Amino acid sequence: MAANRTHTAIAFVGARKPLEAIQVPTVSPKGDEILIRSQFTASTPLDLHRADGGLLMKSGDIFGSTTVGVVEEVGPSAAGRLQVGDRVFGWAFQEPRYKGHQEYVTAPEWMFGKIPENISSEEAATVSENLITVFNTMATDLGLPTPWPKPENYVPDHANDPILVWGAASSVGQFALQVLRWYGYGQILATASPSHHEYLRGLGASECFDYRDAGIAQKVLAAASRLHQSGANSDGAAEAIPFIIDCIGSRDGSLGPIIRGKIAQTGSVVAVMLPVILTHASPEQVPEYSMDVAEVLGSLGTAASSGITVKGVRTFFVYNNNPFFKEKLPSEIMPALLAQGIVTPQRYRLVEGKNMLEREENALQQMREGGVSGVKLVWRTLNQ
Ligand SMILES: NC(=O)c1ccc[n+]([C@@H]2O[C@H](COP(=O)([O-])OP(=O)(O)OC[C@H]3O[C@@H](n4cnc5c(N)ncnc54)[C@H](OP(=O)(O)O)[C@@H]3O)[C@@H](O)[C@H]2O)c1
Repeated sequence: MAANRTHTAIAFVGARKPLEAIQVPTVSPKGDEILIRSQFTASTPLDLHRADGGLLMKSGDIFGSTTVGVVEEVGPSAAGRLQVGDRVFGWAFQEPRYKGHQEYVTAPEWMFGKIPENISSEEAATVSENLITVFNTMATDLGLPTPWPKPENYVPDHANDPILVWGAASSVGQFALQVLRWYGYGQILATASPSHHEYLRGLGASECFDYRDAGIAQKVLAAASRLHQSGANSDGAAEAIPFIIDCIGSRDGSLGPIIRGKIAQTGSVVAVMLPVILTHASPEQVPEYSMDVAEVLGSLGTAASSGITVKGVRTFFVYNNNPFFKEKLPSEIMPALLAQGIVTPQRYRLVEGKNMLEREENALQQMREGGVSGVKLVWRTLNQ
């Protein structure tokens, strides 16, 4: 039993202050909860937004939302889907005991899935957060259906319309390509560094473009125009690119080119990952963010009357209005997509350090220095 035990967790003290390793109670599972001996977690840009920008953080808050580990105890009213000894993965953050950057996690059973045998624990740590983000973005923000199980011979309404995934080498982008392609979207335009283009085509991109190219907007629009002229698009939509996922959410690096370059036009829906980054964190620079999409659009010179719909993606609320995702996404859909090879885990870099605190600090530093390209930062959650 976990009663009277404590374990190590990594906590926020203040923006750009060194993190702290603290001792917190190891909580025995109540109701439908399970207790997990964590083995691996991931560090994501959100951790950097929090550590350096203090985004939605107060002193003492624990970091992390990805947990991969082994079930150690099962609460009395859990559904019984998971057993002691099962290897599980999931995304949970709503309570301190659910958070990912600690040695033990106690959280509801439904938030976790069994890791398929063909997937290592390190690989599993790359998946949950942004696979869930992609389902949320499609269903909540773009209005693209995500039927499950997918009907045989399913062809979505917009199968042949161009969809732009800006920042496709990001974790969100890689899962977006795979899920969109699996649901039958056949015209996915992607932006990424050229070194990733071949890999991203393998994940589902139809055409790739270098986002640093000064002529990026014209090139993307020309590709969309070729599709329209070929008559391939299904609904004769007037707009060049009806659906755009901005996987980066940078005012000047992604949303700016999409809006100012007129890649988004009347009728386009743009789903942008929040927060919008106004100034990137770096070793020298304090970051700045905005959660107010309308304000950012105003600063880019776009009037509300432009006919472009920009949705700020907030996956934290994914389960609030979607009981189906709550019931199926972590427990059934994620494990099945991995087991069947429909979704490939992201490539990862194992972050080293003598203990959890050092691993987390090292991961944050790698992100600050801009050293993360196409990989997920994964680290061990045993405090030694
Ligand atoms: N609100 C939400 O629900 C939600 C959910 C998930 C993530 N997010 C946010 O979404 C953002 C991405 O998260 P992530 O985990 O996917 O990030 P990530 O994997 O760490 O992103 C790294 C990648 O970003 C790409 N990149 C950087 N600047 C770019 C630009 N200007 N244009 C195109 N690509 C660019 C780089 O591509 P190259 O290697 O090709 O250069 C790099 O591979 C973060 O800010 C995160 O907090 C929000």
